[in-house]
Amino acid sequence: MSKKVLIISTSLRGNSNSEILAKECEKGAKEAGHNVELVSLKGKDIKFCIGCLVCQSKGSCVLKDDVAEIMEKVKEAEVIVFATPIYYYEMSGQMKTLLDRLNPLYPVEYSFRDIYMIATAAENEESTFEKAYQGLQGWVDCFEKAELKGIVTGGGINDANDAVNHADVMQKAYALGKNL
Ligand SMILES: Cc1cc2nc3c(=O)[nH]c(=O)nc-3n(C[C@H](O)[C@H](O)[C@H](O)COP(=O)(O)O)c2cc1C
Repeated sequence: MSKKVLIISTSLRGNSNSEILAKECEKGAKEAGHNVELVSLKGKDIKFCIGCLVCQSKGSCVLKDDVAEIMEKVKEAEVIVFATPIYYYEMSGQMKTLLDRLNPLYPVEYSFRDIYMIATAAENEESTFEKAYQGLQGWVDCFEKAELKGIVTGGGINDANDAVNHADVMQKAYALGKNL
């Protein structure tokens, strides 16, 4: 069955490793017949959440920037894949900022059910990715109809574009998309 899949690439780096994997995932998902869109945060204006909570009564954010358009896509997607570099054993700051800014979705109907993470890091320990995954789990826990279903990790990948040299990880990212 064809699903509406949104892949959000959060690295701002040129030739980003996590984005290379996100694109492999996109390729797999398209080949599986899904309706897929990849959104990069590069060049996007994304302000920090100011915590006013006006969104919980008004239904929309007081800040005016590029989040509104991304939020609409998040709301309508059935599957969301977040791709991030590991920064200090966590998700990227821009990804966390986006998750915070999606707070207007908390009290409304949303379509997303299956959430996945793709992450790359210089180190290659299982623990390298734990906090980032748990961080995303914290967000998912607040959306009761959604479930965090898995992660593709690219450890030992540091220089820009290095992901292309890791055929095993590229294959895992492709398979993630293919098997959504
Ligand atoms: C600010 C910053 C913090 C980083 N922190 C870590 C870290 O804690 N552990 C690690 O293994 N790699 C760390 N890295 C390396 C990146 O995770 C790695 O280069 C990754 O492949 C970048 O993905 P990207 O090309 O998609 O941005 C850090 C890189 C930056 C710029």
